[in-house]
Amino acid sequence: MYYENSSCNENHNYEEGVVIDLRSDTLTKPTKKMREAMFNAEVGDDVFHEDLTVKKLEEIAAEMVGMEAALFVCSGTMGNLIAIMTHCDVRGCEAYCGDLAHCILHEQCGASQIAGVNLRPLRNNNDGTFDLHELQSKIRKDVDHEPISKLVLVENTLNGKIVPQCWIKDLVSFCKQVDLKLHMDGARLWNASVGSGKSGKEIVSGFDSVTFCLSKGLGAPVGSILCGSTKFIAKARRIRKVLGGGLRQVGVLAAAGLVALEHIPNLINDHRRAFTLASSINEIQSTTFSIDLSTVQTNMVCMQVDPNVVTATEFAKYLRKVNDSDKEKIIVKCLALNDSFIRFVFFHEITDDDLSLAIKKIRCAIKTFDPKA
Ligand SMILES: Cc1ncc(COP(=O)(O)O)c(C=O)c1O
Repeated sequence: MYYENSSCNENHNYEEGVVIDLRSDTLTKPTKKMREAMFNAEVGDDVFHEDLTVKKLEEIAAEMVGMEAALFVCSGTMGNLIAIMTHCDVRGCEAYCGDLAHCILHEQCGASQIAGVNLRPLRNNNDGTFDLHELQSKIRKDVDHEPISKLVLVENTLNGKIVPQCWIKDLVSFCKQVDLKLHMDGARLWNASVGSGKSGKEIVSGFDSVTFCLSKGLGAPVGSILCGSTKFIAKARRIRKVLGGGLRQVGVLAAAGLVALEHIPNLINDHRRAFTLASSINEIQSTTFSIDLSTVQTNMVCMQVDPNVVTATEFAKYLRKVNDSDKEKIIVKCLALNDSFIRFVFFHEITDDDLSLAIKKIRCAIKTFDPKA
């Protein structure tokens, strides 16, 4: 939590209050241990392969997902783009992903903009999967008129949901049969691992590459990791360079990344807090606000709002206001995903005390809009 007054609050005329910011786990700040590790990091020129801290991080990361090699990249977006460009290495390729995937919705479609790759969406099911028959029906024929089908991308977790491993197994064997490469956008791979009790290796088994973020829930200030075979990573390294991602004494960032990996077991606390918030909201049995508890599997809570009563945007704005009657002056920040859904995200800076305040504020706001609850 932190304190805020109206003058620094995105131009809204809100009063002073204690802020519980649940917009995103990208808000984490580096811990004291990370800052110390950054200060003390042994560094060298990583473009010359001479930064020992980066090498150590890449070796550990590759081993954690059971792949041969790894590459430190600036961001998840860069990792996904490099993966697409490495797999789709001739002009006129096509890659497939769920229609809710970050790479198609929130990465400026870099695949088409920069790599000349057509990203083709498949309808995402509620559990993060997509229909393999639909995938099959979209695979191109080997004729001059059509692009070349090359790659499938899977996001795990997707909006906090862990993609079912039995479906992943079916997808892996399907892709092998039809000779499609497989990449996992595992920005939150370790939330999936901790939430499912499965190792990183098990989750990505059969995949050709995976990216995971050291920032977000793991708390590093910058950086993601792309993993794959030695040959794949050698190619990826060249592409990283042309995208401006060849960094020099980047061991200062890798040092924070190494500490971030130690944080993985603690993600369970974020998951517990997310579930507690969701159950506390559902306890009041509102007909306007509800959460499908089966979707609260990691650190995110998606609350459904009846837009005929209040839109998600209006409700999110209301949570940012302090009313005269609020003794504790609590402000909750969250994201309205569309008219009907609001997202709350947990990360290590959100404590149990913050959780209690957030529950109080949200339940009270719900009762304002739904007095029968
Ligand atoms: C699932 C997913 N993939 C990729 C990214 C991109 O990561 P970055 O912000 O580091 O570019 C994000 C960012 O939130 C994400 O949620």
